[in-house]
Amino acid sequence: MSLKFPEIFFGNINQYSSKLDLSNDSKRIFLIADENTKSCIDRIEINSLKDGKLCILGAGEEHKNLSQIETIWSFLNRHQASRNDHVYIIGGGVICDMGAFAASTYKRGVPFSLVPTSLLAMVDASVGGKTGFNFNNLKNNIGTFSQPTAIYCDSQFLNSLKMDEKMAGMAEVYKHAIIGDRELWNYLSNNSIETLDFETIIKKSTQLKYNIVKRDPFESNERKKLNLGHTVGHAIESYLLNKNTSTLHGFAIAYGMILEAFISYKIGHSTKSIAEEIKVELTRFFKHFIEFNIDIDHVIDLMLNDKKNNTSKINFSLPKDIGEVQIDVELGKNEVQAILKEFNI
Ligand SMILES: NC(=O)c1ccc[n+]([C@@H]2O[C@H](COP(=O)([O-])OP(=O)(O)OC[C@H]3O[C@@H](n4cnc5c(N)ncnc54)[C@H](O)[C@@H]3O)[C@@H](O)[C@H]2O)c1
Repeated sequence: MSLKFPEIFFGNINQYSSKLDLSNDSKRIFLIADENTKSCIDRIEINSLKDGKLCILGAGEEHKNLSQIETIWSFLNRHQASRNDHVYIIGGGVICDMGAFAASTYKRGVPFSLVPTSLLAMVDASVGGKTGFNFNNLKNNIGTFSQPTAIYCDSQFLNSLKMDEKMAGMAEVYKHAIIGDRELWNYLSNNSIETLDFETIIKKSTQLKYNIVKRDPFESNERKKLNLGHTVGHAIESYLLNKNTSTLHGFAIAYGMILEAFISYKIGHSTKSIAEEIKVELTRFFKHFIEFNIDIDHVIDLMLNDKKNNTSKINFSLPKDIGEVQIDVELGKNEVQAILKEFNI
């Protein structure tokens, strides 16, 4: 992977027209979007982008597959794209991950920039260079580390995003606050989805992840903090999917953070008041979105299958305080089981 990290531009995308307009460099522009995000292109008032060749993919996780990657590669071939050209990827996390994978592998890599349009893509998926798609029913099974040239985070794109998608994206904003920003946490605690200033929280949240991945691009150390909530959260997500009562990823992570805060308190890494604060605040904000009916034994079995676990132990990144996370906490199945039963789900 190129270790050249991208520039991130915040605010109205049109103020960056001189950066986005590459026509003077005789580059051709290719655009990748999905059925829902193609309308986001209308917001971009830059002729060379509007005149670019557009590839539209199916929307949603069920389309994050090899056949869509082939669609992008064939599209680039049909238009004889070269490494001198540029690809703009306009969409949520699914399109960012797939577009970046396809561009970074086509002819050994065509430069690309990301224009994330969902909250989750702005604060999480567009940052950090992970690309990929689902394969053999395994999530993000095939992928690369490939950095974009630039990322353009414009909160105005969120105007057309569905409310539940916006709420789910907030889980990653909360996660970043717990990892390293008490001030952001306090601000979130004093607001609701209606009163939040998205421009500000996107900037703070994205920057926090960016700083971490810059220090640890390949997740050998500090980047593991970003797994907060995910050990329990992924298992809850899989459990609900198996029960045909699937939820959005963010809601499973929000609930995962509540349970992991409780585990952290019970093993002495954190205090009862921190665990309570996380539970009370996430329950206040996410309300019915995180009311789940869960069989904890089943969820624990799913945790043991998590790819982060090298042994029979379960690996966690746990909150110590708001703004501080401990990575690589390994716990045995029985210990986790006893603690979570006590939580009284
Ligand atoms: N690469 C990474 O580091 C990383 C990190 C976190 C998540 N991800 C990936 O991100 C994906 C989830 O991203 P997501 O939640 O954005 O899902 P998504 O891309 O499926 O977007 C959710 C839905 O919202 C629609 N949408 C997006 N922006 C819109 C807009 N502005 N207006 C109207 N509709 C819009 C999409 O078409 C889709 O239907 C997962 O596949 C996950 O693996 C990657």
